[in-house]
Amino acid sequence: MTDAPAVPDATATLTNGARMPLLGFGTWQIKGEDAVRATSAALETGYRHLDTATIYGNEGEVGRALAESGVRRDEVFLTTKCPPNRAGRELDTLRRSLDLLQTDQVDLWLVHWPANGSTTLSMWQAFVEAQESGLARSIGVSNFDAALVDEVTASAGVAPAVNQIEWSPLLFDAGVLAAHRSRDVVLEGYSALRGGSLEHPVIVEIADRTGRTPAQVIIRWHLQHQVVVIPKSASPERIRSNADVGGFTLSDEDMAILDSLGGR
Ligand SMILES: NC(=O)c1ccc[n+]([C@@H]2O[C@H](COP(=O)([O-])OP(=O)(O)OC[C@H]3O[C@@H](n4cnc5c(N)ncnc54)[C@H](OP(=O)(O)O)[C@@H]3O)[C@@H](O)[C@H]2O)c1
Repeated sequence: MTDAPAVPDATATLTNGARMPLLGFGTWQIKGEDAVRATSAALETGYRHLDTATIYGNEGEVGRALAESGVRRDEVFLTTKCPPNRAGRELDTLRRSLDLLQTDQVDLWLVHWPANGSTTLSMWQAFVEAQESGLARSIGVSNFDAALVDEVTASAGVAPAVNQIEWSPLLFDAGVLAAHRSRDVVLEGYSALRGGSLEHPVIVEIADRTGRTPAQVIIRWHLQHQVVVIPKSASPERIRSNADVGGFTLSDEDMAILDSLGGR
């Protein structure tokens, strides 16, 4: 593609030394041929990080797009997730994900959201075993708070490398970010473009002033905070535009204005 943007290649370093691209492609709610097309467009644009999940029902399509892309598997950071209703069947669930994704290891496997009570701890133990057996290079969690991160860490003696949570300027909380940093847990944000952030007048003003789209401002804000961001789009044009965030920098003042939108 001739007009492909220079996709930022900044990475977060996980506790085991693995590098996770700060910009990834989210795939929730894209299914069937649309998922193949969108994932192919993302790879062609230059995204090298894909985020899927067992419950998205599109691992097969994401795997197909990756296999057909010509991009080497080891150039792409691949995440999938296990829902809590698979407790007790975690490794079978992961093996099915690997089959669908046409790979023998994911880069990151996440507990999609907490299960009830001690089930979360037993799930985490299974995740540790998956990492030890090489089926998942890194393991992490999603939708956990810091107390639960501490609980699973204490129970298995292994900390999650990543916590994927909802995050955007409107949800910014310096305490939450600091809690992740102090634990060496990489904060990965999701739904950055939802919840009214694209229409927020302050974000729209910064976008207009800097000659960027609101989505680009929000994505750039994540990158400058070293927070992983995984915008989803089914539109090739928006897939490209969302990645075209390498050629500008938000000023410290604009970063502070965006931070203040979270009210914390
Ligand atoms: N762990 C979890 O529990 C969890 C929960 C939610 C999401 N996630 C992950 O995070 C990813 C991102 O979150 P998300 O899918 O909820 O939301 P998102 O990426 O924040 O926003 C996606 C929405 O924004 C639209 N959009 C994308 N780029 C745009 C642009 N430049 N201008 C205007 N609209 C734009 C998309 O529509 P079009 O497709 O029409 O462009 C879609 O409606 C998911 O895909 C998934 O991988 C994880």
